Amino acid sequence: MGEGLGVKVNKDRGEELRKLLLKLGLLNKELRIEKEGYYLIIPILREPSPAELASLHKVDPNMEVVRTVFKEVERRPRDLAEALGDVLEPNLLAALPRSFDIVGDIAIIELPPELVEYGEIVAKALMTVHRNVRAVYSKGGAVEGEFRVRPLRHLGGERRTLTVHREHGCVFKVDISKVYFSPRLANERLRVANLVRHEEVVVDMFSGVGPFAIHIARRRKAKVYAIDINPTAYSLLVENVRLNKVEELVEPIHGDAAQVVTTKLRGIADRVIMNHPSQAERFIPYACKALKDEGGVIHYYVFARDLEEVKERFSRGVEAAGRRVLDITYEGYVREVAPRLWQVALDALII
Ligand SMILES: C[S@@+](CC[C@H](N)C(=O)[O-])C[C@H]1O[C@@H](n2cnc3c(N)ncnc32)[C@H](O)[C@@H]1O
Repeated sequence: MGEGLGVKVNKDRGEELRKLLLKLGLLNKELRIEKEGYYLIIPILREPSPAELASLHKVDPNMEVVRTVFKEVERRPRDLAEALGDVLEPNLLAALPRSFDIVGDIAIIELPPELVEYGEIVAKALMTVHRNVRAVYSKGGAVEGEFRVRPLRHLGGERRTLTVHREHGCVFKVDISKVYFSPRLANERLRVANLVRHEEVVVDMFSGVGPFAIHIARRRKAKVYAIDINPTAYSLLVENVRLNKVEELVEPIHGDAAQVVTTKLRGIADRVIMNHPSQAERFIPYACKALKDEGGVIHYYVFARDLEEVKERFSRGVEAAGRRVLDITYEGYVREVAPRLWQVALDALII
């Protein structure tokens, strides 16, 4: 709160006058505009000169300069380093992670060892910078196990791991402590969804809570079989299919993709998605088995340093399954998962 000079103006002329004050270098951006009945009082830095007053009167002939009490504009720090500038030593500030994941309203940050004991204040700062974040967790280790779940440590905010994530017009209910989900794959999912044509049959072998399958079904009239072995991922997948209104197109299946393909989905697919980078190679025979006799596309993901080697090993795997790679229509680095280690993507046309 503070008393200061302001320009009292008819509400209707407010925005035009504010722009003019800004242009004249008169607008006080530290104070908030006050409302008074049908008028606004716009804070200014100094008494306007006669020439300035004349131009202000042109916008609103009834405007007047008044003195009143203004509230201060709440200034939010732009990033963690700014939020913690007065709290942490420079060496600790330099160690702050530059990026972190936000899934729904939960942030997941990777703290270097020297910052572990400051977890609580880092979490508080993070929630000040990002007002929509309600809970903060730190990575307690690598993504692990068959379900590809990451151990987490609560740092601050609500003790809640269930959230709703919005991505390119879809919503995904996710429990970050029980299922795999990475917001960093948003563009990759969209890229794949946009390649699908109407009436295609797609098998999403490792669907998690359903992001690939649901993006596809929201954009194309394609039938998608979405498989996951994790019972929680499957339950959330069923819920997400309903939330996104794609029940007619996406069929959730709980089970092991190898078994499900062998018993239920042989020779039916135009397209197979294999987003299980740590294990994809050993599932190549089943992806081939799911494809129609005339062939189709496999979207293949693995962790690697070298794309050439990935292509070679993939081709060998496909040949061992009795098929052939006709063409690699796309190859790319999706995201860095460790220094010089990438999640890479191949789109392969198989016959
Ligand atoms: C890396 S996650 C990908 C999830 C999802 N595609 C996404 O983009 O969020 C791999 C998923 O494969 C599932 N999974 C692991 N082994 C499986 C198997 N044999 N059959 C089916 N799903 C499996 C895990 O539970 C996990 O949800």
